[in-house]
Amino acid sequence: MTGYFTVTEGTEAQRRDIAALLPHLDRVSPAIAELTITAWVTVWKSSGYARPEDFPYTLLAPGYRLMDHVAEVTELGVMLAEYRELRWRESFDPAVLVPTLILHDVDKPLLYERHDGSARYSELAADVPHGVLGGFLLRELGFDERIVSIVSTHAANAPFHSSRDEGWILHYADFYSCDHALRTQGESGATPFYQRHLA
Ligand SMILES: [Fe+2]
Ligand SMILES: [Fe+2]
Repeated sequence: MTGYFTVTEGTEAQRRDIAALLPHLDRVSPAIAELTITAWVTVWKSSGYARPEDFPYTLLAPGYRLMDHVAEVTELGVMLAEYRELRWRESFDPAVLVPTLILHDVDKPLLYERHDGSARYSELAADVPHGVLGGFLLRELGFDERIVSIVSTHAANAPFHSSRDEGWILHYADFYSCDHALRTQGESGATPFYQRHLA
């Protein structure tokens, strides 16, 4: 165990609260679904938030809820994967894709904190990058190494992104939802990714 979080299964009520926020959990095995819930309960209980609905998604749109983003990315990612399978005849592995989509931002409750109504970085955010911290947690919980590598390298500012198909699908689902947050609830000066043109 690292000192960044304490793995906990939480109470039955806490597990139900988390499960209610996660679409497509029924697409993974019961054991992986339970482990996925444990990952989210762990960051919830290791953070200072009273409710998962309070987790912020980004400091650029602090009113946008992380769990809404997670649900959007999961639904969008599955849509993209199914389209790809139908039209391009390229299959995907739901055992890798679905946990990756649901867990890609699992470390954010440890990296952001709310204070006097606003959101800011936690002290931990200066120690471990977004994605890498999630990778630590998923590795400790025993998730498949393919999921660990995609989550660890998915962040926009990561030095590289995993070459795996499921990482590519996550990327476009993630950025589509991200730009929805920035276009609808972004702070002034928060430019959507699709408008961040290189000079
Ligand atoms: Fe992320
Ligand atoms: Fe994300």
